[in-house]
Amino acid sequence: MILFPIRSESLVSDLLTSATADRYADLLDRTTRLIADRLAAVTRPSSGAGRPELQRLVDEIDLDAGGLGAEAALAEIGRLFLPHAVWFHDPGYAAHLNCPVALPAVAAEAVLAAVNTSVDTYDQSTIGTLMERRLIDWTARRIGFTTGDGIFTSGGTQSNLHALLLAREHALRTRDDLDRTTELGRLSIFATAASHFSVAKAAMLLGLADHAVIMVADDGAGRMDPVALDVALARSRAAGGRPMAVVATAGTTDRGVIDPVRAIAERCERHGVWLHVDAAYGCGLLVSRRRRTLLAGIERADSVTVDYHKSFFQPVSSSAVIVRDPAVFATTAWHADYLNPRQDADPNQVDKSLQTTRRFDALKLWTTLRALGAERLGELFDAVIDLAHAVHDEIDADRDLELVGRSQLSTVLFRYAPDGLSETDGDALVPEIRRVLFESGRAHVAKTVIDGRPCLKLTLLNPEVGLPDVRRILESIKSVGAELAAARRAEPAPAEPVPAAQAGAAA
Ligand SMILES: Cc1ncc(COP(=O)(O)O)c(C=O)c1O
Repeated sequence: MILFPIRSESLVSDLLTSATADRYADLLDRTTRLIADRLAAVTRPSSGAGRPELQRLVDEIDLDAGGLGAEAALAEIGRLFLPHAVWFHDPGYAAHLNCPVALPAVAAEAVLAAVNTSVDTYDQSTIGTLMERRLIDWTARRIGFTTGDGIFTSGGTQSNLHALLLAREHALRTRDDLDRTTELGRLSIFATAASHFSVAKAAMLLGLADHAVIMVADDGAGRMDPVALDVALARSRAAGGRPMAVVATAGTTDRGVIDPVRAIAERCERHGVWLHVDAAYGCGLLVSRRRRTLLAGIERADSVTVDYHKSFFQPVSSSAVIVRDPAVFATTAWHADYLNPRQDADPNQVDKSLQTTRRFDALKLWTTLRALGAERLGELFDAVIDLAHAVHDEIDADRDLELVGRSQLSTVLFRYAPDGLSETDGDALVPEIRRVLFESGRAHVAKTVIDGRPCLKLTLLNPEVGLPDVRRILESIKSVGAELAAARRAEPAPAEPVPAAQAGAAA
């Protein structure tokens, strides 16, 4: 008879257990030192290494080779990944909605990774579940819900999908006699063209009809026009449609503007339609002393998306969907005998979540609130908004740049437009300027399209960046723009097309 050892010492020593606690501490010490040394050396958002070089570095690694050991594998990460990572905290990074992260949250990330809690059932997370629920309750109260509920998610995309799933079920379950498949094809969502693309994607995932997302006109500055919403809702009903939800955006991704939530809420209440507020970007206003009023009316929403990993300075991922009526989660609850039986009295978060196994992301926000306090987080978000507004003025006063609208939050839209540069050439320069800066690794800026024309975009989410830092980005944009414009002028003019008859005769 062969006897197998119950414990394999060689296997156990590679896992994090009570027996490897000291090794864990040693490994983490080395890892934090590695990161700290790299952080201290960062002087630009990225290395600027081109994709072929990065592809070669990745391809060179033999993933089928024998193990190097944890120390050597991490040292390799120190050579492979860290030198080429994109650093959101660098003052030259102003591209997308990525924030530098609160220090206590990063420390908490180490805690949740080590403990590896899964906040699905109470028996897998106990106090973790209670802490997550406190934070959901805290956020709901900040929104102004008296008896709200919610769940942490992986990000705004999931939060929007989840909210719209609840809205769909709310719409479909109002009458039992209706055929679900037929009704699904009649449902529609009302949003503006500036709403996040995850809204249209959610409509597709939820099985709605191809043209279920109805675009409501805006006020010319990117904010939903409530009168146009009224008309669109009435028109849809008159045509036999069933309005399922209105999505108001509290902080659009490009223009950084906030739909008039109170006026939209009034229309939703009148038409009996679910109101979802996508506050993925603007949620930081919930803790702002100076600008909380920008979210007026949000307390009348049925559901709200909040992305703590945008304006609460949390590491990815950290988001939540919050609802006004806790009962709505019952419409999508699912129960498994082995996990969360219906009769279980414990608060199983999996009953509400789209996920089963789920990270304890809430711990990061918890630690941040305890370490910094909510007011400090609000001040940090206010600081980036103040900065963006100062940059708007700066661009407005610059003869070589053209400001494209003013954000209520922290985006900046503009073009390089010196005297003598045609609109067509200016438009063509937008992606080129972005690419040249990106490839240099000196500055990361974004590009987008506003009213059919390309423009450059800064998203300022670093409260420690000052106007001089942003001026440096603007100066780089102008000097790259001038070089590219000069190169364009030097290019030979494209040959006039030869009329077909003449071309044939010449051949
Ligand atoms: C307004 C808005 N909603 C939702 C999202 C999606 O969030 P996430 O990237 O966390 O999925 C974004 C992302 O930029 C956004 O700007």
